[in-house]
Amino acid sequence: MESLSVAIACDHAGFEMKEEVKKAFESRFFELKDFGTFSSESVDYPDMIHPMASAVNEGRYDFGIAICGTGNGVSMTANKYINVRAALCWKDEIAKLARQHNDANIISLPARFVSQAEAEQMIETFFTTDFEGGRHLARVSKISQLL
Ligand code: RB5
Repeated sequence: MESLSVAIACDHAGFEMKEEVKKAFESRFFELKDFGTFSSESVDYPDMIHPMASAVNEGRYDFGIAICGTGNGVSMTANKYINVRAALCWKDEIAKLARQHNDANIISLPARFVSQAEAEQMIETFFTTDFEGGRHLARVSKISQLL
């Protein structure tokens, strides 16, 4: 975890959660780059998520954290990028399986449906769990094979 560079982004619904996540995890990562938004003023989540997911897609950051009200809009946007696997997580076990089975590289969180403590626990789990590989490797490799 200490060697990872991580990008974080949110919309207005995720702003407060993002700020608390930064306080809790800034010192735990090698780098935590904030792509906004920087206030609770209403914004369009793709404006922050595209730059963040694009940076993860290009390998400029190892992982990402994306937060909006439901976690869906940020996931949908991030998953437009071929090297991104954004996983919407609302339970700790899902965060764990997103890494173990899906090799997810962005955790998407629904700020309006999980508590701050639940979100931070999921982040802790996500960033301390390894991909299992094995049978899951072939499946993950097929995700970006479009027909
Ligand atoms: C904002 O009201 C809300 O629509 C947004 O945060 C997100 O939930 C969209 O997917």
